[in-house]
Amino acid sequence: MREALRAAEERLARAGVDSPRVDAELLVAHALGVSRTELYAEPERDAPAGLEPLLRRREAREPLAYLLGEWGFRRLTLRVDWRALVPRPETEVVVERCLALLAGLERPRVLDVGVGSGAIALAIADEHPGALVTGVDVSEQALSLARENAERTGLAVELRLGGIEVAAEGWDLVVSNPPYVAPEEIEALEPEVRDWEPRSALVGEGAHEELARVARTRLLVLEVAPAQAGRVAAALEAAGYDGVSITRDLAGRERVVEGRQA
Ligand SMILES: C[S@@+](CC[C@H](N)C(=O)[O-])C[C@H]1O[C@@H](n2cnc3c(N)ncnc32)[C@H](O)[C@@H]1O
Repeated sequence: MREALRAAEERLARAGVDSPRVDAELLVAHALGVSRTELYAEPERDAPAGLEPLLRRREAREPLAYLLGEWGFRRLTLRVDWRALVPRPETEVVVERCLALLAGLERPRVLDVGVGSGAIALAIADEHPGALVTGVDVSEQALSLARENAERTGLAVELRLGGIEVAAEGWDLVVSNPPYVAPEEIEALEPEVRDWEPRSALVGEGAHEELARVARTRLLVLEVAPAQAGRVAAALEAAGYDGVSITRDLAGRERVVEGRQA
């Protein structure tokens, strides 16, 4: 197995994978049905038979999360596949801001626009148990994955087909990580994103501004690309939000814009 790990690492490095050793370990462990730490408990065992197809997929730069079939997001382990975006670490910061703003509200009505895998909606339901959380998405496929994740985590959230217009129904907090990659930027993205994640989850323009205009909510929290933060903050101010602020992610990039209104 040591040899299999080394060979897998080399193949993934040649394919341009960012973290070939970690990916090799996770794929070998997945093929064996053990955890990454358990892998080293018996280093002399045979390489698992199911490894080769996984390696081929990863060499084609399919996201690691899709191959493993699940991914950690805050306290949850969510099912992930081609139906939705892989939840990102910066989106954990979005949830952090929502929880801070919701502190002290007992039964807040929360809407997640573009629920995808369910990551934001389910994490808020998990970490603010009094919240009444709704998630909407225009993609039936994303919604089916969110439903599976609601069932898997045992968290009660309302999930329905819908778009930005649902934000006008009246909420305590509206949160969204909408598609915000400009069409001309897509080719420059990593193959994992460009070639495998749903285009409809990635490419889009103007959703932040539209949400600022149409949402009827006391609190609005939006994930943005770093270059968009100033513009989106200005849009919130123009729409009448107070206390507009920008939060950086762990890498120091401006990623979350929030505001409140009476
Ligand atoms: C960037 S993904 C975010 C998914 C998830 N919230 C997360 O953070 O991992 C954007 C999601 O918004 C959905 N979407 C795109 N346009 C939308 C719209 N106008 N209204 C609602 N959802 C939309 C996509 O189908 C996709 O699931």
